[in-house]
Amino acid sequence: MTSETAKLTIGDQEIELPVLKGAEGEIAIDIRALRAQTGAITFDPGYANTGSCRSTITFLDGEKGILRYCGYPIEQLAEKSTFLEVAWLLMNRELPSANQLEQWENEITYHTMVHEDLKRLYASMPKEGHPMAVCAAIVGALSTFYQDVKFDSPEIERRIAAVRLMAKVPTIAAYSFKHSIGQPFMYPRNDLNYASNLLHMMFATPCEEYEVDPVIARALDLLLILHADHEQNCSTSTVRMVGSSQANLFASVSAGISALWGPLHGGANQKVIEMLISIQDGERSAKQFMELAKDKDSGVRLMGFGHRVYKNHDPRARILKQACHDVLQRLGTSDPLLEIAQELESIALEDDYFVERKLYPNVDFYSGIIYKALGIPTDMFTVFFALGRLPGWIAQWLEFHGDEDKKICRPRQIYIGANERDYVPLEKR
Ligand code: SDX
Repeated sequence: MTSETAKLTIGDQEIELPVLKGAEGEIAIDIRALRAQTGAITFDPGYANTGSCRSTITFLDGEKGILRYCGYPIEQLAEKSTFLEVAWLLMNRELPSANQLEQWENEITYHTMVHEDLKRLYASMPKEGHPMAVCAAIVGALSTFYQDVKFDSPEIERRIAAVRLMAKVPTIAAYSFKHSIGQPFMYPRNDLNYASNLLHMMFATPCEEYEVDPVIARALDLLLILHADHEQNCSTSTVRMVGSSQANLFASVSAGISALWGPLHGGANQKVIEMLISIQDGERSAKQFMELAKDKDSGVRLMGFGHRVYKNHDPRARILKQACHDVLQRLGTSDPLLEIAQELESIALEDDYFVERKLYPNVDFYSGIIYKALGIPTDMFTVFFALGRLPGWIAQWLEFHGDEDKKICRPRQIYIGANERDYVPLEKR
């Protein structure tokens, strides 16, 4: 809270509202008393100007292109940390000691198997079903296997639920892929680290030894770190909103997976690759595509570009662009889609339409090229986004749970429908 106030005049009424200030100097007008004092509400479709909570987890500065997890710049974590260490950081707000990290890694390792009955759920799902639909369903079904986890369960139960999610969702995700290609599910292995185990469950078969390429495992770990949290984005806000009704963590995360699936959100990474392939296949040139992307009536959007918060480069996109080059070089391969992506970016950076609207590459623009280089199938890209975002969803849900301001999320509206009128009997309509 600051001593500053915001004055608001409505008709002949003037009120003063408190102004809150964040740790990085951002300010917010506290409107909690607005309706009681004036009868008025605010109107903010998409909540672009609305803060839903106070959080100590992630800080974004969209104008400067800054992203920090608990104060640590994403650039440093990407270079020096691991995904499980970042997951601990997000949930505990401090980097773990060596002992804490070892204990955390062991806890996750020894929870990676899923109940044998859970595996049977896949058999009822069409193989062609999108893996995001499968994962949302199976994660929601975890609530039937762990019925003791409730919103108001003791702290220890909530943290076990967090461990179970961190440990089992990679297994659930890999099984959704194996189900789609008719291959046997591979049990997790306790001698592999998080990323290597995920690759093993995705690509190993019972017929032969599968060696995880450390270059691929490290690149995957980097991708997971970069997706781990992003303050109050659509899917995280969904997880908080579902949790606000006191639904359990599994149900909340299942809803978050569904929200992430949308092509305007996490589903964009799959759409980017499909967009690049359409240009590679000669459907239209990069220049022609960009002209269509500027035409509102074309129905074409430059996927992987633009962001609600970043009006400068998404720092994750910068890291991923460099990682594309590094991974392709380390794998001794190249990908013409990277050249096409860079051509689109360079056109956009010179074009007033994109420059005026401050549209830059976001996290989804380059990530698909790396997933593709790692052998991840296109319709699993958004599942891998969800795997990265999992610790962020969990940390934000836990933070909501402990928030002294917490209330069930229930926005208001401006009603523009019919005014009061009497019922008309059928024979008179
Ligand atoms: C993610 O919130 C997060 O933090 C999300 C995320 C995370 O880590 O959780 O960062 C992950 O979801 C990244 C975004 C992935 N989505 C895409 O790449 C889809 C393409 N991008 C857009 O649809 C759009 O930019 C959004 C959805 C990302 C942001 O939408 P906004 O904030 O509502 O902005 P807008 O749609 O109002 O766009 C402002 C203007 C409009 O033009 P005008 O009406 O002002 O003339 O920019 C135009 C838009 O038409 N515009 C685009 C565009 N994005 C915005 N025009 C062409 N191509 C685009 N990609």
